[in-house]
Amino acid sequence: MKVTVIGTGFVGVVSAAVYASFGNQVIGLDIDENKIKLLEKGQVPFYEPDLQELLLEQQAKGKLRFTTSYQEAINEAEIIIIAVGTPSASDGTADLKYVLASAESLAPYLKENAIVVIKSTVPPGTLEKVISVIKEKISTKFYGASLPEFLREGSAVFDTLNPDRIVIGAEDDFVFTKLEELHKTLKAPVVHCKVASAQMAKYTANSYLATRITFINEVANLCEKNGADIEEVIKAIGYDKRIGQHYWYPGLGYGGSCFPKDVKELAAYSRTVGESGNLLNRVDEINKDRIFRLLKKFAEESGGFKDKTIAILGLSFKPNTDDMREAPSTKIIPFLSDKKAKVRSYDPMAKYNPLATDNHQQFSSIEEACENADIIMAVVEWPEIISFDFSKVKNNKKQTFIDCRNQFNPERVKNWQYQYLGIGKR
Ligand SMILES: NC(=O)c1ccc[n+]([C@@H]2O[C@H](COP(=O)([O-])OP(=O)(O)OC[C@H]3O[C@@H](n4cnc5c(N)ncnc54)[C@H](O)[C@@H]3O)[C@@H](O)[C@H]2O)c1
Repeated sequence: MKVTVIGTGFVGVVSAAVYASFGNQVIGLDIDENKIKLLEKGQVPFYEPDLQELLLEQQAKGKLRFTTSYQEAINEAEIIIIAVGTPSASDGTADLKYVLASAESLAPYLKENAIVVIKSTVPPGTLEKVISVIKEKISTKFYGASLPEFLREGSAVFDTLNPDRIVIGAEDDFVFTKLEELHKTLKAPVVHCKVASAQMAKYTANSYLATRITFINEVANLCEKNGADIEEVIKAIGYDKRIGQHYWYPGLGYGGSCFPKDVKELAAYSRTVGESGNLLNRVDEINKDRIFRLLKKFAEESGGFKDKTIAILGLSFKPNTDDMREAPSTKIIPFLSDKKAKVRSYDPMAKYNPLATDNHQQFSSIEEACENADIIMAVVEWPEIISFDFSKVKNNKKQTFIDCRNQFNPERVKNWQYQYLGIGKR
């Protein structure tokens, strides 16, 4: 099939490369000329495991190419997948300007019976808006659908090749058949549903996961008060099959490009349809406060941050990505600089772009970042960080080790002669 993916960000490049690997003829389209120049040369503009290899392989086979020209990308496409960004507007609602701009740009070139599919995360009602933007420009017969994306950055290629499910929201059998055919290589359950159900499913999944993180963080706060250990609590509750051992991550709160935005957008969407969105409003507020609440607690327990040298290990929002959108480091570093601490950081992939006021320097190894540190904060569970032997960087001062993701055995850290601080445990 001839497929075009509009937007060559994280979702777009991965989707384009994977659909090409299924034997389709795929074009990736973006308005960002620099991105397209890099992609044409076979270079992925961000770090995502296994993507570079897949991209080069599909380009070499002649299955995948990139362009900035709507005419070239849309003219012959049978399936057009919109995967542009949907950031939150100032009132929290999804800002649809990129989605609607791509609808307007693609319209003049749309071929008869083409299917315009929204993969971007958008609220119910958006496909109707896209269809009406296109219909204002042309009278060609075309179809619309929703195909929400559930991949996780850091394992995006694996997730796209091994999805838990494929959700297709549409109204016509023709569309279900074509989109099912597009995914026929995959062995995942396919959910056929209404367009609004598909869009709600995406927001519901992310909002639920964010709520689950917030819930366990609240429980971790209580454990710190009463001497319980959050990891023991998780183990104990996890044997209940209704709850499970998976996806319990007490820590600094959720970040990244999706959870914070999707929680806010679902809460804002609730308000637009006359509901309060109270639970999600609260989840958002609790999560925003969490990192600062913990930083204050860590300061009290370690003797304060002023004039201290602090090593921050992990700058991305999670391991295996260089994405720093809503990453804890982007809040921690300005906070520590403001407290007159000297920050030394390390990340295997992410590059921190310091604010003018940041008292911060990034280094290229854990050893260098930890040099002369009073406090070491293990912020992201990159394998290289959690497997590191911190006895190698122990100096003669009193030092605190802050395990922001509960990845270290407290006894081991204490044996290295650090004061240990974790989450939800004393
Ligand atoms: N990143 C994730 O992990 C993830 C996972 C699931 C769903 N999503 C959703 O997928 C969508 C895309 O997310 P992303 O992280 O890939 O975004 P991104 O910001 O990485 O990429 C978006 C791309 O769209 C391009 N673009 C903007 N306007 C355009 C236009 N008019 N025509 C062509 N290209 C245009 C931008 O230049 C950019 O390259 C969002 O709705 C997001 O919520 C993201």
